[in-house]
Amino acid sequence: MDKFLIRGGNVLNGTVKISGAKNAALPLLAAMILAETPITLTNVPHLKDVNTLIKLIAGLGITMKYEGDTVTADTSTLDNYFAPYELVKTMRASILVLGPLLARYGEAKVSLPGGCAIGSRPVDQHLKALEALGAEIEVEAGYVLAKVDGRLKGGEVVFDMVTVGGTENILMAAVLAEGTTTIRNAAREPEITDLANLLNKMGAKISGIDTDTLIVEGVESLRGCEYAVVADRIETGSYLAAAAITGGKIKTTHTDPNLMEAVLEKFEEMGAEVTRGEDWIELDMQGKRPKAVSFRTLPHPEFPTDMQAQIMAVNVLGRGFATISETIFENRFMHVPELCRMGANIQVEGNDATVTGVEKLQGAPVMATDLRASFSLVIAALAAEGETVVDRIYHIDRGYEDVEAKLQSLGADIQRIH
Ligand code: UD1
Repeated sequence: MDKFLIRGGNVLNGTVKISGAKNAALPLLAAMILAETPITLTNVPHLKDVNTLIKLIAGLGITMKYEGDTVTADTSTLDNYFAPYELVKTMRASILVLGPLLARYGEAKVSLPGGCAIGSRPVDQHLKALEALGAEIEVEAGYVLAKVDGRLKGGEVVFDMVTVGGTENILMAAVLAEGTTTIRNAAREPEITDLANLLNKMGAKISGIDTDTLIVEGVESLRGCEYAVVADRIETGSYLAAAAITGGKIKTTHTDPNLMEAVLEKFEEMGAEVTRGEDWIELDMQGKRPKAVSFRTLPHPEFPTDMQAQIMAVNVLGRGFATISETIFENRFMHVPELCRMGANIQVEGNDATVTGVEKLQGAPVMATDLRASFSLVIAALAAEGETVVDRIYHIDRGYEDVEAKLQSLGADIQRIH
């Protein structure tokens, strides 16, 4: 199993190119199933999760080509509607093929994703929403069996909570349904906007984009097109956090400051100088120690749960103390004991954590527990004294393209060891 060996103490400076967003690429890949003619996605990041979904879609018989940052799909060769447990269990987002398969072919058999390290994460809202459009759904032996006679029927969907994946699944189903669907309490994450824009380019009729009510007028078929995946706002924030924790100055390019205002405001509250360009963001910590900042994770446009661990790591070396409330997932503080092994002072009570800043951290052997937690340990190690070995970095490879090369180019002393 690969590990990172990190020698801390270097101040990170330079420019880093941000990749396409993992969380947009995955639903966009699933949406390819809906296209009747060949369809091309560009700016697709090279990530383990992307490879998993491409493999799953190719397993349906769809012809998939992946060259450079471009993926092309030809659905004319599709020959089954089956997403096996072996692939789904490695990535929860595999459930996103359910909506498109059902909408286009009237049938799908998709393994239940099960729980994951950051919580039980059920898919009840996905299934309830598809039933509201007329799907017959049974759960049998760990599989979701979904069917519909003829086309799905437009209807009213009201989510009990804001769910990103649930909104994406129902959106991909509703675009081919007969009549109009209204999706209430829809997620408003930029990745939903990206999916809706792709679907509209394919010929769908979605309005209310960027609001919590999406209105979808169903169409009979969708065509292929070419579309570029939106920039990864979480990767952007993660590299800016690397500048903040080491007192450095990093410019992220090929990104979009409009996607992440809540995070940028927190960096400013820390005392960083943040400059926003059209498609770039620069953070300059000017060698200062950041001020610890309190926040609560909430659905977009509020502070994203996917940045919680990285900003907590910066707080660990901050001035003063901060409280962090995690309201999206019930078990997303697994980086806390690992950060404490390096000398952090963090108290957890339920879904609240209190961080009291310390002046320095010491390198230690630590273990990555989930994707974003992994990056928080990496940046803590970059700011710590001495050597840190981060184990189980397969988590980080799921969501950060070329992570060690990008960090090395900014001056980090990080090596992958086998
Ligand atoms: C997506 C992101 C993930 C991010 C999360 C929240 C992808 C591939 N992943 O995950 O990085 O952290 O949004 O911004 O885009 N829930 C239910 N029932 C459901 C669906 C969700 O109870 O049917 C709960 C979940 O357990 C969780 C909350 O709702 O507590 C939010 O989950 P959701 O927004 O669906 O997250 P994902 O789409 O899985």
